[in-house]
Amino acid sequence: MRKKIALIGGGQIGGVLALLCTQKELGDVVIIDIPKAEGMIKGKALDLMESRPHDGYDVTLTGSSDYADIKGADVVAITAGVPRRPGMSRDDLLEINLKIITDVANNVKKYAPNAFVIVVSNPLDAIVYAFYKVSGFKKNKVVGMAGALDSARFRAFIAMETGLSTQDVSCMVLGGHGPTMVPLPRLATVGGVPIDKLLPGEKIEAIVDRTRKAGTEIVQLLGNGSAYFSPAASITEMIEAYLKDKKRVIPSAACCEGEYGIDGYFIGVPCVIGAGGIERILEIDLTDDEKAALNKTLEAVKKTVSETKL
Ligand code: APR
Repeated sequence: MRKKIALIGGGQIGGVLALLCTQKELGDVVIIDIPKAEGMIKGKALDLMESRPHDGYDVTLTGSSDYADIKGADVVAITAGVPRRPGMSRDDLLEINLKIITDVANNVKKYAPNAFVIVVSNPLDAIVYAFYKVSGFKKNKVVGMAGALDSARFRAFIAMETGLSTQDVSCMVLGGHGPTMVPLPRLATVGGVPIDKLLPGEKIEAIVDRTRKAGTEIVQLLGNGSAYFSPAASITEMIEAYLKDKKRVIPSAACCEGEYGIDGYFIGVPCVIGAGGIERILEIDLTDDEKAALNKTLEAVKKTVSETKL
């Protein structure tokens, strides 16, 4: 039997995500959105159904505003909410997206209580925390998508600056999904070669800075909304790791209970994603500067989480 993937939110990210899940034949896809957007998601689902013959995909896609249609989903990916516009920070979205996630969490709990849930809506670290609190799901079944995207951006910039293949770039971004995130250039390599052997220090600093601001760079360029291709690709990677029990190591916002000295907060850390959901959080030794940066990002996450009053 095919797996069932529920996408809550069928906007920019949700639409591309539906396409990628189809092209990888990860499972049947149900896209849920608000009643006002029902025509739009039914249209997207039908359009995708009609694209399948070109490559012979057999998974099915449907669009609905009725949460009962996510019944028994194996994976739920949540992009419901509003995106940033130029001049806005992710934290500016808290009030509206918190209301939305509360409604979504109650419905997911009701209809898909065994799903692996990937939260994407911003401000990510607070919204994933809110989902966890409202749903009462186990911590291994709830994760925020941020590190996969931030690391992909870091990798892309290293590949662009070195002229080497993205495939060979390996790196990690820890912390909150915002300007305080902690890219770790010390651990970045291309084909196992440390990047400080390939790029001058100032170039590496510029890449780190660009990574921190990469989401904002796209918001400014688009002028009306935030990034969607790269977020959708990042979510797909996480869905695939779970459904195929790949044991991928993907930086993700996971609930720490003592790891990195953090307790009770979702924050970006290296996670093993397999059939058990977040199976492990890997701990690495950080330098004093990296520890200080992680503490700073934790303070930023705590502040936004405190505003959820959960
Ligand atoms: N239930 C389901 N869907 C909802 C709900 C809800 N309660 N409220 C809003 N939506 C839908 C909207 O109707 C819209 O179709 O969520 C969708 C969001 O799509 P976009 O506005 O295109 O936003 P997108 O670019 O996909 O980003 C979604 O992810 O990266 C974050 O900051 C981003 O919070 C934003 C989210």
